[in-house]
Order: sequence, then structure tokens, then C-alpha cells
Amino acid sequence: MADLSIDFAGIKSPNPFWVASGPPSNTAHQAHRAFEAGWGGVVWKTIGEPIVNVSSRYSALTLGGMKMAGFNNIELISDRSPETNFDEIAEVKKRWPKHTVIASLMVDTRERWHEFVRRSADCGADGIELNFGCPHGMCERGMGSAVGQNPEVAETIVGWVMEAATIPVIVKLTPNITNVVYAARAAKRAGADAISLINTINSITNVNLDTLVPEPFVAGRSSHGGYCGPAVKPIALNMVHACAADPQVGLPISGIGGIGTWRDAAEFVALGSTSLQVCTAIMHYGFRIVEDMKDGLSAYLDSKGMRSLADLRGRAVPQVGDWQQLDLHYKRVARIDYEKCIGCNLCHIACEDGAHQCIDLVDSAPYGLGPGRVPGKPVPKVREDDCVGCNLCSIVCPVDDCITMTPVDTGRPAMSWHDYQSRLAAGTMQPLPPHP
Ligand SMILES: Cc1cc2nc3c(=O)[nH]c(=O)nc-3n(C[C@H](O)[C@H](O)[C@H](O)COP(=O)(O)O)c2cc1C
Ligand code: SF4
Ligand code: SF4
Repeated sequence: MADLSIDFAGIKSPNPFWVASGPPSNTAHQAHRAFEAGWGGVVWKTIGEPIVNVSSRYSALTLGGMKMAGFNNIELISDRSPETNFDEIAEVKKRWPKHTVIASLMVDTRERWHEFVRRSADCGADGIELNFGCPHGMCERGMGSAVGQNPEVAETIVGWVMEAATIPVIVKLTPNITNVVYAARAAKRAGADAISLINTINSITNVNLDTLVPEPFVAGRSSHGGYCGPAVKPIALNMVHACAADPQVGLPISGIGGIGTWRDAAEFVALGSTSLQVCTAIMHYGFRIVEDMKDGLSAYLDSKGMRSLADLRGRAVPQVGDWQQLDLHYKRVARIDYEKCIGCNLCHIACEDGAHQCIDLVDSAPYGLGPGRVPGKPVPKVREDDCVGCNLCSIVCPVDDCITMTPVDTGRPAMSWHDYQSRLAAGTMQPLPPHP
């Protein structure tokens, strides 16, 4: 079995799966349950001056029957006292010395940062995560994403933290920013040991069309909240990649955002993450999901002949670059497997109305009868010369592996946009003709 243990900026953890700072990491009771279920670490619900929360505080996006495809909250940091939180961290560390407990912090002044950083080390926490990402409630008080969105302010505060820190410091970044890399570089300049991302994305999930008040409903009003869950994974992966690929950042990354399966986990590791944090999936399904995530990730590493997570980490990073580097002469076309096609014709409609009008409906006789296809009903046929290989039909097709995007030899050598521009400038080629 592949080794799932990690060393994250000097913090050793039995596996990469950490409970993210949030409702599932609010109490010692939950931390015990998480470790009993097999989690490698817990990032405590953010500790600061205790706040007062509103009721209600969550809302969600249901898509095609999938509950919590996206999840939104207007909850603030811990409503428990710092004493209670630090005491419970000490209790948890005592019982689980080999597991990771990170104290997530959010305070305002330099003195308060020094005090909370010291108290985190004193209670035995393995590291500190700075919550610079909460997008509601705390930013209005000059904390949370108000800090994370301003690299200069973030650099100053990380600097204060580093003055007092004796354990590793992780800066948790907000996605509510034009380019997350600037914030990551600021963390690095100020001496942080690692970064984690993403925190939640500003959102309104829906409007109740009777009351005309969005959820979560609080006495006839609502507020923008923080979006997370499966829907945010693509945004998180992109930001994790951006930080992993940036030579000026060069910090270990804790990947967060929509992780709920071993596949999600493997993708975050391949794009450069060392540890992985999960919040929404635990709120949806409970701590037990970690069993499948650990088994699946180990089995995947074994199947690829990888002995540890280090063999996978960052392996997808170099394959992602600027659009200008892509080969303009590469071509794929859509090919339909008529043994699988059920004749729904969704691909035809998608290509006709939303793409490049190159899937015809033709006499089905030469193609036999696939599963559920009606005799005499036309079948889709791709005109490969006109197909631009956009992928749309294969994405809309409801049958797995029915439409395969297949590379075809164009007979033309690779040419990037950069090459193209250089050749045009040198007069060694004519402009490519526009698409008809
Ligand atoms: C209800 C709720 C409360 C949260 N509270 C905190 C918090 O106190 N501190 C923090 O750093 N992140 C907090 N988060 C953000 C999560 O730690 C995480 O960054 C985000 O939810 C994305 O991960 P996910 O898609 O696995 O939920 C909270 C998230 C939710 C849903
Ligand atoms: S979408 Fe798929 S199943 Fe439906 S007609 Fe097209 S190829 Fe066949
Ligand atoms: S890949 Fe795009 S252009 Fe080609 S057949 Fe499918 S939808 Fe049409």
C-alpha cells in the first residue's frame, strides 16, 4: 500500500486529509470523532474574539437533484471563547499526539496576534492557520478577506505573526481577488511557512420569488455569503495551480475547495497540494467519508506504481501553461460508438445550435440498432472535416464513452501562437485563413 503520510512545512501527519476550519472542527468532541474516523488532521474553527451569529445562516444550490452542489454560509468565526478553544485543542493533542491540530486564528491588532500565536503554541497546536479569507461579517471589521484582498496589509500582518511564531504558519488565502498569486507572494515575502486555499467565494445562491429575499433568510433580509462545495472545485484547482506554478511563491500548499472523493484529492495533489482540507463534504455526509478517500487514493497510487504522495505531487503542474503555448495544429474530432448510442440526438442539437453544425441526422440503416434506438429514426453522424473538436457533443452525451474525442493527424507540425506570430513577423508564413 502506498504511503499516505505527509510532511507539510515540518508538520507531520499520518495522512493528507484534514478537516477544514468550519462547523465540523468546532469542538474537541468533533475532533475526537474525526480522528477516530481516520482523518489525519483538524484545522480548528477560527479562533478570535467570540462573535454573535445570525439565524438562519446556510443556503445551497441544488442542481439536477444533486443537493449541496454548491453551499453558501453567512456564519462567522468561532462563537466560543478563546479559553475554551485553546483548552480543547490541548485536550485533543494530548489524546492524539501523532495527529495534526492546527489553530486557525483571526484577530486585529499586532498585540492580539502576538498573544493568540503564543497561546496556540502553548496549547500544543502543530501549526497556525491565518484566516485571511472569510468574505462576510469579519471583513467589515477589517479582518478576513479585507486582509487577504490587500497583499500589503497581508504582508504586514504575516510579519507580526512571524515575530511571535514558534510553530509553522499557514496563510489561508481568499479567492475573492483578481490574482491570488499576489497574495501568495506576499505571504512568502513575510516569511510564512505555507499557504492554504481556497476560502469561500462571495455568493448569493438564490432568491425566494415569493418573499423576494434570498436565503439564508434573517428577519426579512439576507446578505452575501461564502460559496464552497463541489461547485467551487474548478476555481480552487486553478488557484492551487497558479500558486504551485509560480516560482516566486514556492511554499507548501494545503488544497481546499470542493474535495469529497479520492479523485478530487488526487487532482489537488497532482496540481501541487501536500495536505487537503474538507468542509462541505463532511457537513453533507459526515466524517466517515475519509475511509473511501484514503482507500481510493492509496489504490490509485498503487495502480500507478507510485509509492507515496510525493510521487504524484505537482505532476500535472507543468502540463498547464499559457494559451499561447498550445499547439494550433493539433486536432481532435468526435467519433460516435453506435453500439452505445441510444439515439437521443442531444449531440445533434448541441452541435447544431451551440457549436459548429457538423453532426447530421442520417439514415440509421448502416449503423444497426443500438440500445433503445427506434427503427427508422435517424442517427447522428459527425462530418469530421468540419468538426472543430470543441468537445461539446461528448460533454452533453448522456452515455459514458459513447462519443470519444479522437486525435487525427493533420500532417502539420506543431505551431504555437508564439511561433505563429514570429513566423508572420519574419514573413515566413501567410496568415491562416479565417474559419468559413
Ligand atoms: C459554514 C462554514 C463555516 C466556515 N467557517 C470557516 C472559518 O471559521 N474559518 C475558515 O478559515 N474557513 C471557514 N470556512 C471555509 C472552509 O474552511 C473552506 O475553506 C471552504 O468551505 C471550502 O472548502 P469545502 O468546499 O470543502 O467546503 C467555513 C465554511 C463553511 C461552509
Ligand atoms: S448524445 Fe450520445 S447517445 Fe445521444 S444521440 Fe448523440 S451519441 Fe447518441
Ligand atoms: S466536437 Fe464540437 S464541432 Fe465536433 S461534432 Fe462535437 S459539437 Fe460539433
